[in-house]
Amino acid sequence: MTTPVSLDEAALRAHLDAFYAKVRRDPDLGPVFAAAVEDWPAHMDVLTDFWCTVALRTPRYKGNPLAVHKALPLPPGAFRDLFPLWLGLWRETARERFAPEDAALLIEKAERIAQSLQAGILFDPAALRRA
Ligand code: HEM
Repeated sequence: MTTPVSLDEAALRAHLDAFYAKVRRDPDLGPVFAAAVEDWPAHMDVLTDFWCTVALRTPRYKGNPLAVHKALPLPPGAFRDLFPLWLGLWRETARERFAPEDAALLIEKAERIAQSLQAGILFDPAALRRA
């Protein structure tokens, strides 16, 4: 366990580097990222902007995560299995690197975003029309 650091941009970036190193080694998540991400340094910059926006309230990220995840060439049901794996690694890494209250904040934010991404990905307008 490393010494907890305060939650700032440099600490977030180091956390993201450690987290995505685990994601890339994961037998289920790794291949999804290997197929989608060609330029990892650029991807890490986007993720750092995203997490600075979410956790530090510095509004830098201008993208649309739902559209990006929906566009991944995965059956929507695959996300049901992948989100718990993603969140498990996120929780583990946050607790390794941050003081408990900062880790709790990052975990709560990720859980909420994962929930809304999952709802958006699994939402099927055709099912409503059939109802
Ligand atoms: C099942 C779990 C997840 C998988 C398999 C997954 C996969 C991916 C992949 C492959 C990309 C790169 C897409 C591309 O560049 O074409 C990506 C981008 C991204 N992911 Fe995820 N993701 C997951 C969960 C999450 C969660 C829970 C969050 C946030 C809490 C998140 C935040 C992002 C963001 C911000 C981007 C960058 C979007 C952009 O380019 O603007 N992801 N994800």
